[in-house]
Amino acid sequence: MATTLIINIKLLVNTPGENRLLRGKELSKLPCIANAYLIIEDGIITGIGDSSEIQNPKSKFKNIIDATGQYVLPAWCDSHTHLVFAASREEEFVDKIKGLSYADIAAKGGGILNSAKKLQAATETELFNLAWKRLEEVSKLGTGAIEIKSGYGLSVDGELKMLRVIKRLKEKSALSIKSTFLGAHTYPLEYKDNHQGYIDLILNEMLPVIAKEKLADYIDVFCETGFFSPEETEIICRAGMRNGLKPKIHANQLNLSGGTQAGVKLNALSVDHLETMDDEAITTLAGSNTIGTLLPTAAFFLRMPFQPARKLIDAGCAIALASDYNPGSSPSGNMNLVTAMSCIQMKMLPEEAINAATINGAYAMELQDEVGSIMIGKKANLIFTKSIPSLAYLPYAFGSNLIDKVMISGEFC
Ligand code: NIG
Ligand code: FE
Repeated sequence: MATTLIINIKLLVNTPGENRLLRGKELSKLPCIANAYLIIEDGIITGIGDSSEIQNPKSKFKNIIDATGQYVLPAWCDSHTHLVFAASREEEFVDKIKGLSYADIAAKGGGILNSAKKLQAATETELFNLAWKRLEEVSKLGTGAIEIKSGYGLSVDGELKMLRVIKRLKEKSALSIKSTFLGAHTYPLEYKDNHQGYIDLILNEMLPVIAKEKLADYIDVFCETGFFSPEETEIICRAGMRNGLKPKIHANQLNLSGGTQAGVKLNALSVDHLETMDDEAITTLAGSNTIGTLLPTAAFFLRMPFQPARKLIDAGCAIALASDYNPGSSPSGNMNLVTAMSCIQMKMLPEEAINAATINGAYAMELQDEVGSIMIGKKANLIFTKSIPSLAYLPYAFGSNLIDKVMISGEFC
């Protein structure tokens, strides 16, 4: 059995004694151990404590990592990404700089439809290779668990192709990966005036294959004015639920579209985005078991108001942070930037941001038993920082790369 001892850790961060989804005030409590040790056996955490308890380490451990001066955190749990895509969309980025709106670009056949066209032309292997590189990039940035959506296929073949790519990523990667079917991302042009036709395609042609081949864990719908209504969202999610897929939905991004209420009614695992929230949506979310997942880099990139994190936390919501990595609204999967932005622009405390991007992100993927905090029995998915003066320095010095190395399942990546 391969056993590793990490010793002299300046601060071992997020070491709760038990698993718990954090809501409201609880988010600001981040348990830590100073001058800590951590033992890893076969990629799993098997011991945690004060370094002074370990006498004569060299006589007991062959592999010893001295983490003097370093903070060690659980790797990020990024619970909302669209990491499988065929091409970047910087031409739209420039169009937006010149004054075009998200809606103007969508009307020109850009946006999601642009990505769908490019994805149609790409082979499964090409998509896999592109996604693999992105996965490698984000793991070096500290992400150890990730959710990945389909949604750029928008046809039976395209959606299944994306989900098969995610399945291959799951099989090959050491990261913990969850897969979400987002066939209802937008209406393809040929169904623009025939919504029922596309919903039938999702229900009758896509979902049965997805269920049979176990291609997804969750179902997602872009519940938004001009995309899918709350009623359509409910029909599609209920069909997903009959096929074993829990809902995790895009809600309240551009408008007060009723997505949060629809998600809560469906007992969704999470409602994601939440840039546009009123008191009713906040109260509904606070009174539910549904996690609110905030995607600050999407708000930043689209020049939208940031999610009202303080109001959500003060109302008692359980919130997570995620990157929304995708070519249209967040071409970055950097969770260090996500956490920094949540502190700088949304006034989350560093402790709240770290909890939201680790344990609550794990809950938003139902991976809380294997990742999201430093606990005996969980995977050794760890971020080792460079020498930093305090934990708050991480979001404060937002432009610096403060990660020394990242460990996934006990191996440095
Ligand atoms: O989560 N809002 C919907 N979907 C993506 C953006 C998709 C795109 O523009 O390609 C998002 O922001
Ligand atoms: Fe998204």
